Amino acid sequence: MRRNRRIFRSRAGGVAVVIVLSASSLVSCGPTASSPVPVPACTTACELGQLGRDRGITIGAAVTADGLRDPAYAAAVLQNFNAVTTEIDMKWRVVHPTSDSWVWAGADAVVDFASRHSLPVRGHTLVWGKESANPSWLVGTTSPAAFRSAVLSAITTEVGRYAGRVQRWDVVNEPFTSDGNELDHNVFYQRMGPDYIEQALRTAHAADPSAGLWINESGLELGTSRADNFIAMAAALVARGVPLQGIGIQAHRLTSSVIQPGRLASVVRRLRALGLQVAITELDVPTGPTRSESDQVDVDRQIAGECLDGGCTEITTWGVSDGATWLDQPANRADLPALEAFPVPTRPLLLDTAYRPKAAYRAVADVLRAH
Ligand code: XIL
Repeated sequence: MRRNRRIFRSRAGGVAVVIVLSASSLVSCGPTASSPVPVPACTTACELGQLGRDRGITIGAAVTADGLRDPAYAAAVLQNFNAVTTEIDMKWRVVHPTSDSWVWAGADAVVDFASRHSLPVRGHTLVWGKESANPSWLVGTTSPAAFRSAVLSAITTEVGRYAGRVQRWDVVNEPFTSDGNELDHNVFYQRMGPDYIEQALRTAHAADPSAGLWINESGLELGTSRADNFIAMAAALVARGVPLQGIGIQAHRLTSSVIQPGRLASVVRRLRALGLQVAITELDVPTGPTRSESDQVDVDRQIAGECLDGGCTEITTWGVSDGATWLDQPANRADLPALEAFPVPTRPLLLDTAYRPKAAYRAVADVLRAH
């Protein structure tokens, strides 16, 4: 994780962009009226966040505290998005590195930035079964009672700290096996039992009853039996009165497999029918020899379109621009063999390395305009 953070910093720091403010090119954008700090005036890009605001749709970007230190990156967030997700700064390996220490600097920086600019925050993430994502002290806590107490107390501490400032939490991330149809028997499942999800949600709710609590999962956009089983799990939680407000569909399109038309909209509708909100939470569509930029446009258009057709309330991209994406970081690529088909740079996002809108940005804007 330390290594990743360094790579990220140097990538973000390496993006040098000068925003030229000429009176004729300025377009009003961003929450200038309500925000205590003026939103930088727009240059080329800006309409996405505003289109979302006008339609009550959250248009988010995953951001890092390191990234926000770069004024061009911060300006691009304010100009183009109306919400943020913490990409790494709230993960327990970063924020809770030892059993008796918390390192709040990064998470605080993101939340402070969002508060100053009236942007809602999706806190990502509390309980994530992926072993490499967890601090070694937690994985090494083998007594079920001690493990349960450590997990629930960490949730209480983190959610409590940001009560009123983080509006939505990805309480549980990726509970299913990476491409299967059932709960992963991860360390939380093993030590706390299959109801670890319910325990986590109830504990988060007690720490901040006003926060929206979500489960976030990959691959649901395909609408296969994985989605069927996931929807069944969500329905069971809702039926038991567990505090669950929404389901996040990550939508990392890391293979060239096609989402059969209508499948994503149908998944969104079925979840909405349970009384849940639904969001695309981690959209990125890498390009390469097997996926051109125009293919990327089609995929982004389909995902945004079906998401809104089905009644979802948020589209968040996993990063701000092509200049800093997790898909280009060596440590993540080593974990994701599918990325061999997408050599670096993968250019998976809506803004290019100079924060200019790409064709995919305009396609998503058109989808929003049509809704
Ligand atoms: C990734 C971050 O983007 C990287 O910077 C970090 O090194 C590893 O995690 N699914 C998730 C996210 O839910 O938390 C992951 O984020 C990407 C996959």
